[in-house]
Amino acid sequence: MLLCDVDAESYVVTPDRIQALIENNKDKKITAIIIVHEFGYPVAVEAISKIARDNNIKLIEDAACALGTTADNHHVGYFSDATCLSFHPRKALTTGEGGAVISNQPRVIESIKILRNHGIHSVEGKMDFILDGLNYRMTDFQAALAIGQMERFSETLHCRETLVREYYSLLEGHKGITLPAQSKGHSWQSFMIVLDSAIDRDLMIKQLLKEGIQSNLGAQAIHCLTYFKNKYALADSKYPNATNLYKQGLVLPLHAKLVCADIEKVCTELSKCITLEVA
Ligand SMILES: Cc1ncc(COP(=O)(O)O)c(C=O)c1O
Repeated sequence: MLLCDVDAESYVVTPDRIQALIENNKDKKITAIIIVHEFGYPVAVEAISKIARDNNIKLIEDAACALGTTADNHHVGYFSDATCLSFHPRKALTTGEGGAVISNQPRVIESIKILRNHGIHSVEGKMDFILDGLNYRMTDFQAALAIGQMERFSETLHCRETLVREYYSLLEGHKGITLPAQSKGHSWQSFMIVLDSAIDRDLMIKQLLKEGIQSNLGAQAIHCLTYFKNKYALADSKYPNATNLYKQGLVLPLHAKLVCADIEKVCTELSKCITLEVA
């Protein structure tokens, strides 16, 4: 497994970084690249798909946070071999749990259908178990929930965008905070700011909670997580941006039931906490 550091402002990988990683690992066989549209920010997927094709590497998009995101004027999934979506309750569209895989390649879709259903393949109505599959089936009840939400999904996206604008107008230039990069096509699954190193992020989460505001650490960095740390012994210094986002990132409330007055309250309390911490 090779890891690629992300951009400090957009929190995602860039074509240059991917190209450099491939160049620097010519001795290794790279089978697939997985890119993450972190928090709905659109990765430059068209350029990365070209790099993947030129190097005979498959491209998978982790679009768990990116239903509604458009990258290079197309919805996520357009340029890659396969794309994963999440419908977890924290997502803009939820089925309670579960997700979906999308692909424009019939062979991939066929394999996914077999794998999600115990490895069953039916020919002329006769079932056979041809792969080591599991049960990843979504129920019809869950699908019905999703269809209802699809009908008002553009409204949901618009509402998130409005709340995000409010965050920008209230927090732009605020001491101790870096705001996330903006981009055309961003679906704003979450709004994560980055706190200066002098601010104790975990303490901030506790202080905001005392005021009734739920916030959270946001970006996960694989090399900082116990399983991967133990297995691969990856140094923080190789991934400075991901490390900083993991340690100093703070996700602020963002969901379709909030109104601008809620965002104002969050920003007021956040501002008070920062003033206390940096005083
Ligand atoms: C980038 C990313 N990938 C994958 C997942 C996992 O999604 P799920 O919990 O639906 O398996 C998440 C969940 O938040 C995510 O943010």
